[in-house]
Amino acid sequence: MSATRLTRALFYSAATLRGATKTQVRSACSGCSSCSSLCGQKGAKRDLSLTAAARQFAAPQMKPQVSGVVSSKLRNDMLEVKFGDGTEGRLPFVWLRDNCQCPQCFSVEALGRKLLMDDLDVEVQPTEVEETMDGLMVKWSDGHQSEYSTNWLQNRSFTPTSRALHRERYALRREPWGAEHTMKNFDYNTLMSDDRVLLDWLLTMERKGSAMVKNAPKKDVAGPELIEHIAFVKQSHYGPHSPVINRPNSNNVAFTNAKLGLHNDLPAYEHMPGIIFIQCLAQHPGAGGESIVTDGLFAAEELRRKRPEDFKILSSTDMYFWDKGHANYSWEMPEFYKIAKFPVIKVNGNNEVVQIAVSNTTRDSHMDLPPQEVKKYYAAYKRFYIILSANAMTFKMEQGDMMTLDNVRCLHGRESYDADSQRHIETSYLDWDEARCRRRRLQEKFGCFI
Ligand code: OGA
Ligand code: ZN
Ligand code: ZN
Repeated sequence: MSATRLTRALFYSAATLRGATKTQVRSACSGCSSCSSLCGQKGAKRDLSLTAAARQFAAPQMKPQVSGVVSSKLRNDMLEVKFGDGTEGRLPFVWLRDNCQCPQCFSVEALGRKLLMDDLDVEVQPTEVEETMDGLMVKWSDGHQSEYSTNWLQNRSFTPTSRALHRERYALRREPWGAEHTMKNFDYNTLMSDDRVLLDWLLTMERKGSAMVKNAPKKDVAGPELIEHIAFVKQSHYGPHSPVINRPNSNNVAFTNAKLGLHNDLPAYEHMPGIIFIQCLAQHPGAGGESIVTDGLFAAEELRRKRPEDFKILSSTDMYFWDKGHANYSWEMPEFYKIAKFPVIKVNGNNEVVQIAVSNTTRDSHMDLPPQEVKKYYAAYKRFYIILSANAMTFKMEQGDMMTLDNVRCLHGRESYDADSQRHIETSYLDWDEARCRRRRLQEKFGCFI
């Protein structure tokens, strides 16, 4: 009898129920009041099935507590496992072998795979599988032996639940909004001193893409100081922060008193800044200088529903954005010349909108299109802009306000103001990688993570 057939025989007889308990999923945190407001968790005394946990898609803070692997079977290059709480998973052999957790294959200190692709056989097969007290032991056709804990396996078991939970760990589900939206308010000093409030801001920014920070100190580096408290400033050729005033010999239309249409900042960067901090140090007292903000995600979804052809054009045609100029201040790059290229609506492999890039001031006059396609493109772009504008909200920031926006999702603009106004806005940026990184660590710290 071949090794594999012997193993198969072993499996089918070894499918004993060991230590199975009723389905139980316990919350990881103590159900404190601030946690419940942060992650939507109402309290600790709650039993939920994993399916129910998956349905709470926006708040995947449940930590599975399971009682072991109770049975396993080989089928079609996969190991079918049943966990103590009744859930089941199908684990492809090659994936299991690739993710062996032994010290030879994986560094627990560096949390990284040591196993090389050179040493991975895509056709690898188990020769023996044993359900251990805490999970599974597998012997492989390449002679290696692996052990996996139940929690580790269940968290990665390829079920809709485990996949949805990790998707949310990666990025929270965004909640589109229209003109009726009101931004949640946060206090600057509280954000700097209370990590629970900081986590609330991070969650709000991921879900709503917008928030208003009140009572920012009247200094030009208040934005960078808050950003440094979270992670670090994303610099650009304008330096770590930009005075938005009516500059003489200005290197950007934004640094004049002109009206700015709805836009993201710096689409001339291939990696646009993730979050923009727009602080008001002094507002223009009369009419002028009002802010206009809209949710590009909401508008893109509306376009997809109502004008699918326009959505297709805008999501499949690359546009150039550029920014060329010279320094106005010592901290700016003396001479800069950026060009980036991507569609106005960027979608990922699942056709989800992941970035909106709109900027009349920096949209390039070069277009990489046959001329006969240009007018059709403009028509689609204009219709998208009309939806963006129709769902925008207008308000006036006051001194001490710092508007924070998801710069790859929400667009902002401002009304023109008097040329000799004392109006003073400061802008600075934080990247999404750093913001999400801080969100995950704070979720772990406060126990409201999956
Ligand atoms: C900018 C900008 C907003 C404002 O500088 O890019 O959008 O209110 N400023 O001046
Ligand atoms: Zn190993
Ligand atoms: Zn701007």
